[in-house]
Amino acid sequence: MTLRLGDTAPDFSATSTEGEIRFHDWLGDSWAILFSHPKDFTPVCTTELGAVARLKPEFDKRGVKVLGLSVDGVSDHEGWSRDIEATQGVALNFPLIADKDRAIATAYDMLDPTAEATQTVRSVFVIDPAKKIRLTLTYPASTGRDFGEILRAIDSLQLTSSKSVATPANWRKGDDVIILASLNDEQARERFPDGWRADRPYLRYVPDPS
Ligand code: BEZ
Repeated sequence: MTLRLGDTAPDFSATSTEGEIRFHDWLGDSWAILFSHPKDFTPVCTTELGAVARLKPEFDKRGVKVLGLSVDGVSDHEGWSRDIEATQGVALNFPLIADKDRAIATAYDMLDPTAEATQTVRSVFVIDPAKKIRLTLTYPASTGRDFGEILRAIDSLQLTSSKSVATPANWRKGDDVIILASLNDEQARERFPDGWRADRPYLRYVPDPS
């Protein structure tokens, strides 16, 4: 079954490098990212896990829990963690799920149809406090992800969840945002009494309200 934006993230129980995780309980009222890796002891994955560990304070600042997944077992994960720390200069600081029976990879449609049967694609799911899937990304095994872009997208999701705005191309926190096209000018004036800059009637910018 394909998971779509707005679907509830499937619940699961799993073994991880930080013990047993019951996913929905572990999420609590937080945002989260769940991201998969094709295989332990592989080069691109090693750099990705180091990159996420380095960015963990940025995820924490946004109230976003971080959960990795790979289809190998916990003892492999533990050995690989030592390599990650030695080569990337940072220790794993979030749980890495051991999805040996691929139950979670199957539920989240993470298995790579172009690779050996056990391998997952590089999936990312951003999940909100209501446990809804808010963003998905799928990268092939050969292309490492840009986790700065995932943080940028989370900034947009968190802002646009609470204000009647959308974020333009290449937006970064602090840049001007766009008033939702679904608000007419009268409704927009109630929300944005200081007014806006309109490049077109449908293209109305206001300062970042966050
Ligand atoms: C890697 O992480 O480098 C990788 C993993 C699986 C297939 C190709 C590359």
